[in-house]
Amino acid sequence: MAGRTGEKDDWWVSIPKIELHAHLNGSIRDSTLLELAKSLGEKGSIVFADVEHAILKDDRTLTEVFKLFELIHIVTTDHNILTRITKEVVEDFAAENVVYLELRTTPKKNASIGMSKPSYMEGVIEGLRAVNAVEVALAPHCLGKKGKPFNSGCVCGTPRKRIYIGLLLSIDRRETTASAMETVELALQMRDMGVVGIDLSGNPTVGEWCTFLPALDFARKNGLRITLHCGEVPNLDEIQAMLDFVPERIGHACCFGEEEWKKLLELKIPVEICLTSNIRTETISSIDVHHFVDLYKAEHPIILCTDDAGVFSTSLSSEYILAASTFGLGKQKMLQLAEKAIEFTFADEEVKEELRQIFDSAARTARRDDLMRKEEE
Ligand code: IMP
Ligand code: ZN
Repeated sequence: MAGRTGEKDDWWVSIPKIELHAHLNGSIRDSTLLELAKSLGEKGSIVFADVEHAILKDDRTLTEVFKLFELIHIVTTDHNILTRITKEVVEDFAAENVVYLELRTTPKKNASIGMSKPSYMEGVIEGLRAVNAVEVALAPHCLGKKGKPFNSGCVCGTPRKRIYIGLLLSIDRRETTASAMETVELALQMRDMGVVGIDLSGNPTVGEWCTFLPALDFARKNGLRITLHCGEVPNLDEIQAMLDFVPERIGHACCFGEEEWKKLLELKIPVEICLTSNIRTETISSIDVHHFVDLYKAEHPIILCTDDAGVFSTSLSSEYILAASTFGLGKQKMLQLAEKAIEFTFADEEVKEELRQIFDSAARTARRDDLMRKEEE
């Protein structure tokens, strides 16, 4: 999250970046999660002392991460809280110069508070409208009047930075086919609210690929783009089936066998790489053996992402710093990597063109700064 990098890391914060794999509830600020958990503790809904340790703990296995999500969902599944979290998450990404954000979340139901999947998403949309630190533009450019921000709070007379947002609706692997289909139908109804695609996520040891396939087929037939969490555990049959589906992107690709690796490279499916997440959940044993380096060398399409900036105490700038220092990549190379992500967004051509201009300008500034530094030396 913004502010997690030090002063010497200003350059990494200052460059434009694209975030394509961020879960809304996983990106919650630690301070917000603690505050909300304390307040539920005071109301007697949870025992705060029991959950404090889980929230403050830094290293979690994949199983522990999903336990923490159960707690997070108890705390956050409320319309007003969703609105607050969405606003904070967007402002945190914008503060570290994320210029395009694809934010994903799992629409949830909770009859006891009158929450349906559509009303859950209304809470999220309200959060986008509530952003006031930056101008919010929805990714499909055809939406709204050109040049008119989606959010209202304006800083009179002062032009604000802009962040483009595309929403992805996630299907949780615990869901049934009917429930997954309901999410896809909601996504289709929300295309004019910035929804650009569907994600499949949740505990990778739960659920079967064939349960979700009908909903994913339906989504694709109706023009939604698809990204799948793929290969977080070594379920080779599932990985093969997912690759055969040829999604527009996949997340992680950690536990691939040789055959799956070959297929991935042939199909050139872009991979969302989440370094800190993979290390913290022990999906990859150590950063120096991370497949980032093989994919990078093979010139395979990759995008650096955070996954869950709050849960894993990271930020997109920190992920860039980590990749650069671990794999010995210079600033120019990293800026090029950031720029390449434009082509793997689910945005339309008009938004992509605007992003290209932002990156061209950043590259010019970086070259000029480089020249000036060399002249001073
Ligand atoms: P939400 O969809 O906004 O509630 O974000 C949290 C949800 O994202 C979790 O409950 C999981 O379903 C999913 N998620 C977050 N991180 C991971 C991951 O590393 N692997 C698979 N699913 C994840
Ligand atoms: Zn994820």
